[in-house]
Amino acid sequence: MIPGLPDDIDQIKGFLAEDEAQALYQHALQLSTLGPVLEIGSYCGKSTIYLGLACRTNNSTVFALDHHRGSEEHQLGEFFHDPALYDAGEGVMDTFREFRSNIRRTGLDEVVVPVVAGSEAAAKHWQTPLAMVFIDGGHSMEAALTDYRCWTTHLMRGGVLAIHDLFEDAHEGGQAPYAIYRMARASGLFEDLGQVNSLGLLRRL
Ligand SMILES: C[S@@+](CC[C@H](N)C(=O)[O-])C[C@H]1O[C@@H](n2cnc3c(N)ncnc32)[C@H](O)[C@@H]1O
Repeated sequence: MIPGLPDDIDQIKGFLAEDEAQALYQHALQLSTLGPVLEIGSYCGKSTIYLGLACRTNNSTVFALDHHRGSEEHQLGEFFHDPALYDAGEGVMDTFREFRSNIRRTGLDEVVVPVVAGSEAAAKHWQTPLAMVFIDGGHSMEAALTDYRCWTTHLMRGGVLAIHDLFEDAHEGGQAPYAIYRMARASGLFEDLGQVNSLGLLRRL
């Protein structure tokens, strides 16, 4: 049982399986003693809550990076589109309101620092070493490569890179996360910590 986890965590909109959430929490619990955690792709804050509760234990921080305009699959007419998260006036997705509400009612306002921007723009002047990077942003090849190139350089030695939505079989899901996972493994820069469901874990050597 994770202290502070909302009873209705299953009701929070998101794309994270229970075993993956537990793995994120356990790694963040260890690593946040070394430095802050950054996630790319917060959506409504489900993964952020698990990372945030771990960081709160160690008085650390989660940088929750998301432009909150949704990925390709969330857009109007796409398979994972949620009309409740669509701003019809502006004609755009807007998950930030829901995200803030979920973070506030979990009591994580002082732990979670939202970075409301695109991944590349946010990385441009980034200098803070990170103890853990969780990649769960855009799933196009371009987006995944950008996330990998922009953020793994900031991972401290001993830090952990977690990549979500790894599917070996293209029929099960998009291949971009798996491509950057293979790239990381082939780089010689990481120790392979294995997979939990579709979550890959690698430790920076
Ligand atoms: C699959 S969802 C994240 C799910 C979340 N981790 C959870 O636990 O439910 C992907 C998120 O990545 C964001 N995103 C996609 N491309 C992005 C980019 N280039 N920069 C910042 N955020 C991006 C989308 O807005 C979306 O909210």
